[in-house]
Amino acid sequence: MGQGVRMTTMRPHPALPSPPACGTPAVPPQLICEAVPESVRAARRFVRAAAAYQEPGTPEDALGTLELLASELATNGVRAARSAPVGASIRVVVDASWGRARVEVHDASPRLPYVRPASTLAERGRGMLLVERMAAAWGYSDHAEGKCVWAAVTWR
Ligand SMILES: Nc1ncnc2c1ncn2[C@@H]1O[C@H](COP(=O)(O)OP(=O)(O)O)[C@@H](O)[C@H]1O
Ligand SMILES: [Mg+2]
Repeated sequence: MGQGVRMTTMRPHPALPSPPACGTPAVPPQLICEAVPESVRAARRFVRAAAAYQEPGTPEDALGTLELLASELATNGVRAARSAPVGASIRVVVDASWGRARVEVHDASPRLPYVRPASTLAERGRGMLLVERMAAAWGYSDHAEGKCVWAAVTWR
């Protein structure tokens, strides 16, 4: 032990949350980025890396699908965030474990996603249809600061 260093018993400050148990991630990995088109590529790379890190056994096709889902959700999130009254950024969160991986994209817009009926599809408007077809499940939750759109893949 270095000179002048004393061992003390650390007591948590009452205002701070207790530290997580050893080995338990306190928060899932997340990426906060500017609501600009380049962030879609960052989101794709991030979800692949984060899922492979959290769940090393994630098969390649699940990682590929997760990237695609992230791409569509982030594209929508970027557009929505740019029209939101505050905070032109998106937040991407990954949670992968035990044969499933989930990506969430948060943005500050109160507007919600929907799947366009196939009959009305024009040049654009296929993103959520793709999400519906490729994801094992998807959904959204709205909250005071905007909303989160999520999609999950499963394997095993
Ligand atoms: N994150 C989002 N925030 C607000 N609206 C969204 C979001 N994602 C999707 N939407 C709505 O759902 C519609 C369908 O999305 P999508 O199928 O990806 O088509 P596109 O993005 O080409 O319009 C969008 O046009 C938009 O109105
Ligand atoms: Mg879209």
